[in-house]
Amino acid sequence: MTDKTATLSVNGKTIELPVYSGTEGPDVIDVRGLVAEGVFTYDPGFVSTASCESKITYIDGGKGILLHRGYPIEQLAEKSTYLETCYLLLHGELPTPEQYTEFENTIKNHTMVHEQLLKFYTGFRRDAHPMAIMVGVVGALSAFYHDHIDISNPEDREITAHRLIAKIPTMAAMCYKYSVGQPFMYPRKDLDYASNFLYMMFGTPTEEYKPNPILARAMDKIFILHADHEQNASTSTVRLAGSSGANPFACIASGIAALWGPAHGGANEAVLNMLNEIGSEDRIPEFIKRAKDKNDPFRLMGFGHRVYKNFDPRAKVMKQTCDEVLSELGLEDSPLFRIARKLEQIALEDPYFVEKKLYPNVDFYSGIILQAIGIPVSMFTVIFALARTIGWYSHWNEMISGSYRIGRPRQLYTGEHKRDYPKA
Ligand code: SDX
Repeated sequence: MTDKTATLSVNGKTIELPVYSGTEGPDVIDVRGLVAEGVFTYDPGFVSTASCESKITYIDGGKGILLHRGYPIEQLAEKSTYLETCYLLLHGELPTPEQYTEFENTIKNHTMVHEQLLKFYTGFRRDAHPMAIMVGVVGALSAFYHDHIDISNPEDREITAHRLIAKIPTMAAMCYKYSVGQPFMYPRKDLDYASNFLYMMFGTPTEEYKPNPILARAMDKIFILHADHEQNASTSTVRLAGSSGANPFACIASGIAALWGPAHGGANEAVLNMLNEIGSEDRIPEFIKRAKDKNDPFRLMGFGHRVYKNFDPRAKVMKQTCDEVLSELGLEDSPLFRIARKLEQIALEDPYFVEKKLYPNVDFYSGIILQAIGIPVSMFTVIFALARTIGWYSHWNEMISGSYRIGRPRQLYTGEHKRDYPKA
């Protein structure tokens, strides 16, 4: 695999370590041999650590590049659909027209959930955060599918992929319906994936609901833009959970839990709350000042990224989609969008943000689109989890179908030396 090496001198020893090159991106130093030499690497937050080998997604943070199986995100957002992107992420190639038709029909045949699952929702308070419900009900799916849960069986892994892609929108919409006291809407086969989601969200048994095709296309694009993103915190959580052999539903539930945090997928909800708190353009400087104040925990939500030190390519597409949706809805003069654009302009001119290379990320504009579509703020991260399920699953499947070991990091111990329990 390599003839390149890195030389490390530590504790009076010189250690040769193998260096591997990928098809894109930085070389990696294989440090697995270090434990035998009595040393560990130290990398809290995994800033410089490659946790695995993967063929699914490539990100170049400096150039603002995001590829899914080699295809640029901008092209997929413009020319593909979310379901086609799901097929691509899972199988590695775009489907032929026949493969796509078969895949879409399979997904349509799995969109309903077991009727018993409806009872899980009624155990929650109506004002429960929908992410709390999603963590619970997605994890509970493993209690319904004993028939195909042998993770060593490729066919079981494939039907589980179909079940998750198909049922997550149904379960997400059920969270919303439960919160507003409306009946659950059963999925419909005559609607495309995004239209069916909007139908299950906003349709009612009392009248026909026809999803707006512009909004459905925007929803589908939002799903594509959130589908996968390499080894982010929630995907790494799914891989680590999967490395113990846990069932895929439990692993996806762990991903949902990790995504919930405001530093990760919870940022889209936090962006809207922040824009509402700012309230008017003349208060923007006050919040920029707070974001720069080390003594103030406030951060400009929707800005910054561990990898992107340039524009997040998804944010660019999202901003354009935002324009389209707001003009379709006659909300071009939306105060929130005005504040967002002004905030972006001011932040990108401010030396603090320029020096730290803090650009808008995928979460900065998505919330404005979702709110314009009528989705409540508390559901924003659920939408992110819905879309990211295929990314989580594709990474889990890539790991389980290859060779892997249980993930078990070590530590730098700075606690007490050995000491005896005080004599009575
Ligand atoms: C997602 O990993 C992924 O790929 C995630 C994601 C995906 O698709 O899966 O892309 C989705 O999670 C996008 C990020 C959404 N989060 C937010 O928008 C929350 C706000 N952003 C920050 O919390 C932060 O930028 C992170 C969490 C996104 C990145 O954190 P890092 O890489 O650990 O960077 P850091 O916190 O060390 O910040 C570096 C410096 C610090 O200043 P110094 O200590 O060096 O002086 O930049 C500052 C930070 O204080 N900083 C910010 C800031 N983000 C970083 N200052 C003000 N506002 C911000 N938003």
